[in-house]
Amino acid sequence: MRKKIVAGNWKMNLMNQEALLLFNTISSKLDKDSIANVMVFPPSLFVHQLANSENSEITIGVQNFYPKDKGAFTGEISVSQVKDSGATSVLIGHSERRAYFNETHQFLKEKVDSAIDYELEVIFCCGEPLEIRENNSEMSYVKKQLEASLFHLDGDTIKKCVIAYEPVWAIGTGKTATIAQAEEMHAAIRFWLTEKYNSEIAESISILYGGSCNASNANELFSCPNVDGGLIGGAALDAEAFLQITNSF
Ligand code: PGA
Repeated sequence: MRKKIVAGNWKMNLMNQEALLLFNTISSKLDKDSIANVMVFPPSLFVHQLANSENSEITIGVQNFYPKDKGAFTGEISVSQVKDSGATSVLIGHSERRAYFNETHQFLKEKVDSAIDYELEVIFCCGEPLEIRENNSEMSYVKKQLEASLFHLDGDTIKKCVIAYEPVWAIGTGKTATIAQAEEMHAAIRFWLTEKYNSEIAESISILYGGSCNASNANELFSCPNVDGGLIGGAALDAEAFLQITNSF
């Protein structure tokens, strides 16, 4: 069975004490019988502390990094520093990084390769903006994102990655994709993986949904055959809501 995953993307939120409290609350109340693999992507300043806290089942990842080992890149955090911090996963291709920080297909491909070199698990985000959905070109748009930055990997390597489909028009808007829209895109992504690799590889890769996923709609979304969990923004900042989402399979 594919891994079921609930990942919290805290974005640029929370002060240190708040982050600790949220993390400790989630860790201590996590249902030991839940089938979800739970991940958290805190702001980088908190990563080391959270990744090294004891007695936590939660996987810690970073929201961003620079795909070089070291050097004169003022303000950036290197892929090797991410590895050294104890984080084990990285988000790559989030729409906010693409839109506000001009991360291109080529740059995202470099990030993918550098994360793989450091044996960090890649959560690769894709998803179309509203105007693309409105002119019915979301399929080719998302396929291009995958082909340009992820599908150069060989089969054994892509198997270790996770894909997150996050329609941009659903992120932080309270407007969730319908289950039909989510399942249609997730099934298409799995089909493209089958086409490019093979069905065994396609069937083994977890594909998460993101975009206003919350405690009320997670159950319905996660019941779609090709939705293997969620990448959660706003609702991940609320311990009770997030815990409920982890029990929504
Ligand atoms: P949201 O964000 O749940 O607040 O819509 C999801 C994301 O950006 O990963």
